Formats: sequence, structure tokens, C-alpha cells
Amino acid sequence: GAPVQADISKLEPGQRMTVEWRGRPVWVVYRTPEMIERTESLGDGILADPQSARPQQPDYAAGPMRSIRPEIGVLVGICTHLGCSPLYKPEPNAEDVGAEDWPGGFFCPCHGSRFDLAGRVFRNVPAPTNLEVPPYHFVSDTVVVVG
Ligand code: FES
Repeated sequence: GAPVQADISKLEPGQRMTVEWRGRPVWVVYRTPEMIERTESLGDGILADPQSARPQQPDYAAGPMRSIRPEIGVLVGICTHLGCSPLYKPEPNAEDVGAEDWPGGFFCPCHGSRFDLAGRVFRNVPAPTNLEVPPYHFVSDTVVVVG
């Protein structure tokens, strides 16, 4: 499939947009400093693979935020369990995600898998791995190319 461009010039802090790449949704999330801090504070207790040791991302997206720029997250929006598309639940302590101390992230309604705002999977959910980070790069401050 051809690479696809995401124009993020109108994306507001805290928002998420979706582009389609190779027939799959790819999310671009604009994480605020507060969202980054919340996400970076998570660790082994709550996450199954906090360092993203398993290769669900390109090398340039290593690290806790799994991205080139910490404020811009790029993730394939497909649950790594059985392929549903998780919901965006960025607010802490959302009541409908079935987790205490919900730090904000993505919730898969199919079988209850939970991921943080960097796409890292929680412990004790059906999804086996973090969400995939697709290959991507910036062509300017406001244009991301996926693929
Ligand atoms: Fe997401 Fe099963 S497909 S939890």
C-alpha cells in the first residue's frame, strides 16, 4: 500500500484523528504534557511490556512514549487480541473501562483489553502485546507520513 499523509495542523491538544493506511485505521494522538506525564509514570505494575521490548514499533519509536515526538503518538488502531478497534478514553478514571486508577488510554470493548496513551498493553487483559506503531516520519511540523 502507498504511504498516507496525516495533516495534523488542526489537531488540538488531547485530540485523536484517524487516517486509513493499508485498509487499517491509524491513529494520530496529540498528547498534552499532562497526558505524557501520566503515561510516563506507569510501569511494570500496570503494564505487561512497559519498555516495549517486543518489536511492535520501529526502532526510532522506542522508549515509553513509543514515538518520534513525545506529544504526537502514531498507532495502528487495531486491538492485538482479535482485531477490534479500541475506543479512545483519554480521560483519567473513566468509569466504563473496568479498571481502577485508569490512567487514560484505549479500551477495547470486545473483550476488555486496555492500553495506555502510548498503546502499551495493561497486564491481565486478553491482548498479548502493545499496539503496533506503523512506520512513519514527519515531512513538516504539521504533516506526518505513515508507511
Ligand atoms: Fe480487543 Fe479482544 S479484540 S480485547
